[in-house]
Order: sequence, then C-alpha cells, then structure tokens
Amino acid sequence: MTAAREPVPRGFTMPRPGPPPAGEGPGDGADPARGTVLAGGADPAGRADPAGEAAADGADPAGLEPLAPDDTVDLAAQEQALRISQLLGRLDDEFVGLAPVKDRVREIAALLLIDRLRGRYGLTSSRPSLHMCFTGSPGTGKTTVATHMGELLRELGYLRKGQLVSVTRDDLVGQYVGHTAPKTKEVLKRAMGGVLLIDEAYYLYRPENERDYGQESIEILLQLMEAHREDLVVILAGYADRMDTFFRSNPGMASRIAHHIDFPDFALEELLQIAEQMLKREQYRLSPAAREALAEYVRLRMSQPRFANARSMRNAIDRLRLRQARRLVAAGGVIARGDLMEISAEDVRASRVFRDADRAGVELGGPAGEAARPGPS
Ligand SMILES: Nc1ncnc2c1ncn2[C@@H]1O[C@H](COP(=O)(O)OP(=O)(O)OP(=O)(O)O)[C@@H](O)[C@H]1O
Ligand SMILES: [Mg+2]
Repeated sequence: MTAAREPVPRGFTMPRPGPPPAGEGPGDGADPARGTVLAGGADPAGRADPAGEAAADGADPAGLEPLAPDDTVDLAAQEQALRISQLLGRLDDEFVGLAPVKDRVREIAALLLIDRLRGRYGLTSSRPSLHMCFTGSPGTGKTTVATHMGELLRELGYLRKGQLVSVTRDDLVGQYVGHTAPKTKEVLKRAMGGVLLIDEAYYLYRPENERDYGQESIEILLQLMEAHREDLVVILAGYADRMDTFFRSNPGMASRIAHHIDFPDFALEELLQIAEQMLKREQYRLSPAAREALAEYVRLRMSQPRFANARSMRNAIDRLRLRQARRLVAAGGVIARGDLMEISAEDVRASRVFRDADRAGVELGGPAGEAARPGPS
C-alpha cells in the first residue's frame, strides 16, 4: 500500500535524512501535506484545533521546518506541541501498574521526538523500527496496551492510521496448499498504517509437523515486516517461555523485534485499584464493608485456578452487578438512585470464590486451588 493511494494522512511523517529541497516541506517529497498538518491548526491526531493553540504564533512549533545549525530548540515546548506529556498522562491514568510498559513507551516517545529534531537539523534520522514482543500472563493488559500503542504512535506521527488488527494463527495460516500466502497478505494489507497484533505467535511454528504452512506465513511476515517497517508495527504476544522457544527457532523474527516488553502480574493492591477503577467508570461504588470484602475476594481469587489478572477483575465485576441486581429486585419496594449504584458486602460475599475457598480449606487443610500464584504478603 503506497502513500499515494491513501487519503490525506492525519499525522506528520518522521523527517527523513538529508535536508529538504528548497521551498518544499521536508520529508520525502511524496506528500508535502504530511509535514504541515500541525501548522494548519490540527493536532497530530488530525483533530481540529479550534483554539489555534498548535500554531498560535504562526510558527510551526512541532512541525518539520528545517533548523539552522546554530538554532536552539525548547524541548519542553516541542513536547507540549506534540502533546507527549498528555498522551503519556493518559496512559498513566488508564492503566494501573505496568511500570516497565510505561517506561518503554516513554522511551519510544522520546526517541521519536529526538529523531524528528535531528531530522530538522539535517542530521541522520532514520525512522526506528518499532516491531515489539509483549510477554506476560493472561489478563495483564497486552491486547489493551497494543490498542493504545496504535493510537499513541499515530498521535506521535509514526503511524498513518493506528488501527489495531488482532489475529491468531488461524487468521494467517491456511489448511491447504496455496491458501496461506493470500491469507497472510490479506491480514497484512489490513494492518498497514497500523498495528498487527499476533496473539500466541508461537503457534505459527510447529516443528513437529513436517509440512506445516505456518512457516510459509512466518516467511511472508518477515519479508513485509522489513519492507514496510515504516508503515507497520507488528506486535507478537504470548507467554514468555514459549515465546523464547519460538525466537530460538526463528532467529529472523527475533532480530526484527526492537522492543521486548514484559507485562508483570498485578499485585493485590493493583488488582483492587483496577476493580475500583472499572466500577467507577460504570458508575458503581463500594460500601466500606464491600471494599473490605472485595480485598478478601481478590486475595482468595489470586490463588485459585484460572486466575487471569485484570480480566478476572472484569469478570468479577460483571458478576457483582448481577448479584446486586438480583438483591435489589428480590427486595422490591421503593428504590433510590444511590441504591442502584451501591455494591454491598453481601453482593461480594455471595461469590463462590468464598465457598470454594472454605471447601478447599476443609478438604486440604490449606489455601484453595493451585498454588501457582503467590498469595498476598
Ligand atoms: N493495567 C491495567 N489497568 C486497568 N485495566 C487493565 C489493565 N490491564 C488490563 N486491564 C483490563 O483487563 C482486561 C484484560 O486485558 P487484556 O485483554 O489486554 O489482557 P491480555 O494480556 O491481552 O490477556 P490474554 O493473554 O489472555 O490475551 C481488559 O478489560 C483491560 O481493560
Ligand atoms: Mg490478549
């Protein structure tokens, strides 16, 4: 997919090496409009800027105007114009914990900013390759962060569109000869200008099966990841140990991944914070006794089977809402707005997590479920 066939891009391009031709916007010359979006009063996301803040002084604060060798640049103003702090602040607000993930995103944002400035000074500034690998347990936020990454990279001007195309092996690999290449290429075509997330990427490689079409898909992916490295971010996601094995068998893939980001399991406190954040967004609140009960619930749930970090909190909240509704309807009578919002301790304690824990305690004389996960300290 070439820039020429696309509608006018919403972001700016990263500057390319070398000074721009006189009288033209910098960049590769293919689409001068891309470099001037900010000066036109739109932010990097392409939204209108009614206040005209982005170009208040008529200059091009975060644009691509070339700089003379002895010019100086106010980095804070640049950051502000690109709304970097705002974007990172949003990431902080929306995601509890995930410090290593946030750190890496901050680094990438800094790199894109510095690279853009280098380009304006005529210094070499190649667009970095941003293919990534996200490893971590179920429910640690890999898919959600991948979605945000697409948006963020679009706003930072790296990606044209920033859409997320999320696939697994079955979307890429065919069952018969000749099916795999068109399938994989179709997916890649949809992902151009955005992020391609391949969940459980290691299933693409099946060494035990002699004629497995997964290898064919991997080869096409490798080719296009290289050829379109400026227009596509591929994120491989899955469990760390299996991903390691996959990379050992596919060194070509390993060498194309610029960022390996490990998503840690959430601590008890973080899970509680996630649950409260989810409840708040849905306009529910916990009574003080319910908050205490929820802390106990989370502690027990963490040590039971099929615990899936933040996703388990999502599921727990869906069930809390069910139990609250059942309680209110069963009680009947007159009801007030506040009643509809409040989750009671009874709603929490009616969970089978407490019953299972009691049963396991009686049967095993110890904590419930598999001991795979650490309990609270
Ligand atoms: N740090 C976080 N703060 C708040 N909510 C979160 C956080 N991480 C994940 N969530 C929420 O948890 C749920 C599960 O997250 P997500 O699907 O991204 O996990 P995942 O790592 O992709 O899981 P899987 O490995 O099973 O695919 C989503 O509803 C998401 O919004
Ligand atoms: Mg996922």
